[in-house]
Amino acid sequence: MRAAAADWFAAGQTVGVVPTMGALHDGHLSLVRAARAECDKVVVTIFVNPTQFNNPEDLLKYPRTEATDVALLMTVGVDAIFAPAAAEVYPTGFATTVSVAGVAQSLEGALRPGHFDGVATVVTKLFGMTQASRAYFGQKDWQQLQVVRRLVSDLNLPVTIVGVETLREADGLAMSSRNARLDPAARKTATALFAAMSAVAAGIRAGVQFADAIAVCRAALLRAGFAEVDYVELRDAASLEPVQDLSRPGRLLVAAWIGGVRLIDNIPV
Ligand code: PAJ
Repeated sequence: MRAAAADWFAAGQTVGVVPTMGALHDGHLSLVRAARAECDKVVVTIFVNPTQFNNPEDLLKYPRTEATDVALLMTVGVDAIFAPAAAEVYPTGFATTVSVAGVAQSLEGALRPGHFDGVATVVTKLFGMTQASRAYFGQKDWQQLQVVRRLVSDLNLPVTIVGVETLREADGLAMSSRNARLDPAARKTATALFAAMSAVAAGIRAGVQFADAIAVCRAALLRAGFAEVDYVELRDAASLEPVQDLSRPGRLLVAAWIGGVRLIDNIPV
């Protein structure tokens, strides 16, 4: 990877990286296409990063579909697929963690202890390994995108972060490798997530109090058949701090359980 990166750098070519954990779908491919459009060379990394799984069972269950992933990437066209082994990324004696405070502490950070430390550490390493000047992340994982922006700024990393819009199914459900685990009934119910979020955003724009709109969203999800709602929160889009008004861009973020699957989504408000 380093040798390829050095050659590209010497030839004055720009390199874009798309970090993934594989099990690729159209959402991932939209990131690759965005990189393709803006960079001379595109690297897709596939690495199921053990340090970001706070639940060992989740790590074991994570789908590994490398052959299909490679075939899919071939249809879009990439210059390198970098899929290092875990022992190569975390050799014996590995002792460094990148830990982001503030933006990484609430929401997913509070519910999944250690998760964003794992993400921040591996992303920093992937930037070092690929030497990319641009890196593409999905808005689907909004908090992750803000955590990465924060660490790049705080550590003066010479990489430009690009946030790519969430790709959705025709009925609004955000594409995710987890959607495959929904049975047909749960898949149908899952549509309620984007619908309920859109209703909150519309209500707030029309003057409904934040707390009232959020309570209606929660109730709508449970009524639709979601088993549990981890959070429905309106936050400052960049800092993810709670907001009292919309003088700055806001983001509505939701995490909820259906059919044993945890779905997350977010939209601008
Ligand atoms: P993974 O879940 O494989 O996602 C890789 C990238 O694809 C992330 O930036 C994610 O936000 C983006 N993505 C997923 N679904 C999307 C959709 N429907 N539309 C647009 N983009 C979408 O996120 C990770 O891997 C890992 O945490 C990683 C950053 C690779 C670090 O290990």
